[in-house]
Amino acid sequence: MNKPTFHNAFCDELSIEYPILLAGMGVAGRATPPKLVAAVSEAGGAGIMGCSGLSPEETRRRIHEVRSLTDKPFGVDLLLPAKISASAPTRQGVREQLIKDYPEHVAFVKELITKFDLPEAYPEDDIVVDNEYAKTVIDVILDEKVPIFAAGLGDPKVIVEPGHTQGMKVLGLSGSVRNAIRQCKSGVDAVIAQGSEAGGHTGRVSTFPLIPQVVDEISPTPVIAAGGIADGRGIAASLALGAQAVWIGTAFLVAEECEIYDTNKNQILAGNSQEFEVSRIWTGKTVRVFHNEVSKAWADSNLDPLPTPYQRILMEDFTAAAQKAGRHDLILNPAGQISGMLKKRKPAAKIMQELVEGTIEQLNHLKNNISYY
Ligand SMILES: Cc1cc2nc3c(=O)[nH]c(=O)nc-3n(C[C@H](O)[C@H](O)[C@H](O)COP(=O)(O)O)c2cc1C
Repeated sequence: MNKPTFHNAFCDELSIEYPILLAGMGVAGRATPPKLVAAVSEAGGAGIMGCSGLSPEETRRRIHEVRSLTDKPFGVDLLLPAKISASAPTRQGVREQLIKDYPEHVAFVKELITKFDLPEAYPEDDIVVDNEYAKTVIDVILDEKVPIFAAGLGDPKVIVEPGHTQGMKVLGLSGSVRNAIRQCKSGVDAVIAQGSEAGGHTGRVSTFPLIPQVVDEISPTPVIAAGGIADGRGIAASLALGAQAVWIGTAFLVAEECEIYDTNKNQILAGNSQEFEVSRIWTGKTVRVFHNEVSKAWADSNLDPLPTPYQRILMEDFTAAAQKAGRHDLILNPAGQISGMLKKRKPAAKIMQELVEGTIEQLNHLKNNISYY
């Protein structure tokens, strides 16, 4: 008998071997660096590089680096801004607005800096994520003819038409049925339906109720399941719910190629599922992160989160100070509830191999539930 593999029609659409996608994860480029993206693509999946918050030049450099490591299909993910308040176009301008309009929030961060005895430090870049920024990075992605584009948050409409003209596959990420329908109307090739147990920005509906509802609503548009998937059991369950592929983030954060700080990898490896909570401290939106002293201080403060981009710029100044002091335990560490199951660092190729073999094993095993009489 031939050796079984895990391959379906969706793989042919993306020209990949297995319907497993590395989720594009931002985090200043550390979570999905080119070597991780290329390793997943080389192993037969689709490596998607999170470029949100990176400059257009850095995004282009990273695309070139992926291409130097693999000739397999890969993609780029951006958090397209949905609602943006009119703000100054520079960090310093936003800081001045914060001091004027949100003094309590500025005082909150100052108190944190004093409490943890952190040095004065500011982010090196001057990127404020607004529509202008998004447009410039999208131009780079189109110019580089990246094979796959994924849009987290926001509306991918702007890239669908020019992307399709050059053969790009466009994916839209959604945490609700309503948003999945909206993504379809924008013309995406597939919808990533992400349950609330996921790491990073997250909605309110869990993976199990979300996936079948999205499948029922948008079929025949393919659905890619996300949120809490880290082994063959999760993949087999996603297929059973009607998804055609999976989009995996947290499980790849413990890959050897992933460049998040060691302290943050250790939080994921040691943490239990309950320690990964939703907080609005870091971006103003709901983000599932490892619960630390800073997110606790925010919860205790009873402050309201600020609109985009104010909360992010406010907290990025805190992060710069914590990083300068080497206090990586105090910074944003987005990761999902499935962290509780992750115990070991592994090379991405090994993670991929276990995912594929585990899925085949589960699909075979499930057949044992059928009896004939
Ligand atoms: C560290 C981290 C950063 C993330 N950054 C982004 C991002 O920049 N863009 C995006 O579309 N999704 C982002 N996400 C969400 C992932 O794309 C994905 O949907 C999620 O990780 C899937 O759930 P899982 O973490 O349980 O595997 C991020 C998730 C994590 C854990």
